Amino acid sequence: MLDSVSPLTITRLDLAQGGTYECPSHRPRGEMLARVVSLIFSDSRRARDAGDAGGQHAVASTSRSPRGRPAPTLNAMAPQEERVGESTLNERILGRGWELIQPIEAAYERGEIDAGEWHARIGAIIGRAYLAATDPRAQSGFSGSTEDWERARGFIFAAVNRDGTFLDVGCANGHLMECAVAWLAEAGVMIEPYGVEIVPELAALARQRLPHWAEGISIGNALTWTPDRQFDFVHTGLEYVPARLRARLVAHLLEHVVAPGGRLIVGAHSEAAGSPPRLKAEVASWGFAVAGAVEVPHARDHRVVRRAFWLEKPS
Ligand SMILES: C[S@@+](CC[C@H](N)C(=O)[O-])C[C@H]1O[C@@H](n2cnc3c(N)ncnc32)[C@H](O)[C@@H]1O
Repeated sequence: MLDSVSPLTITRLDLAQGGTYECPSHRPRGEMLARVVSLIFSDSRRARDAGDAGGQHAVASTSRSPRGRPAPTLNAMAPQEERVGESTLNERILGRGWELIQPIEAAYERGEIDAGEWHARIGAIIGRAYLAATDPRAQSGFSGSTEDWERARGFIFAAVNRDGTFLDVGCANGHLMECAVAWLAEAGVMIEPYGVEIVPELAALARQRLPHWAEGISIGNALTWTPDRQFDFVHTGLEYVPARLRARLVAHLLEHVVAPGGRLIVGAHSEAAGSPPRLKAEVASWGFAVAGAVEVPHARDHRVVRRAFWLEKPS
């Protein structure tokens, strides 16, 4: 199993530009919206307003695969050509770049590539895009303003109900780590942030941006990474592994990474407004008890909500 991916030939990486700190919610009014960085679709209209879909590169309903296990059907949703803020519903739910991710997932499902190659190919797309960006949100895969970012991510911290350690799985440039500290401090909750990242160049960027937390930023594949300590709150996306390995990711994180009495937080992911929570139900169907859930409307698209939920590890 691949422990990290380093698929990148970085031709331009201005680390110094990545350090802008833009988390607190008391930013000056009138601040110019950050220039949206087009990551994967640099020449696309939709990239200008897509925001992200919570990094849901591969979220979809499931069907039976030839191997008899749930397989992703990335475009199972009925095509919705109507654009709100220039994005179709599919683009909102499945995320920017899903057309690039789908063939990789399909190749894995057909048995043409293994999980290591899946990670290498996805990492090549993501890493190159994030590292080409200069603002901290885009370096974490989010195109939008600081306000959009806070709205899209801040709500997941409803799951952090006490002081403790916080691990961001897939920490990218570490922006969520620093925002988690700032946002929770405003609510009187003190956390100690850690990160793990599969793309070494992104972990290096996170360490460079956050030197005071550098020792807590690891390179690793969440599916196999076994740290020498455990964390009270662990935040992850399930799209970080091939769809058929998601249950294994949840089990691995609960067993090896979440501390007893701690929480595994999944999200934020985008789903259709008013729809039954699909990813939460899927995780429950694997035998995991969901302890809590939260959702917020998408800031600019009435068709979409952002959702997160959490599992608890017994003390
Ligand atoms: C969309 S960014 C998320 C940034 C931040 N955690 C957030 O939620 O906003 C996803 C990051 O996860 C990393 N990643 C993807 N698969 C991973 C895996 N299996 N193990 C560790 N990191 C992974 C990617 O390289 C990328 O930097």
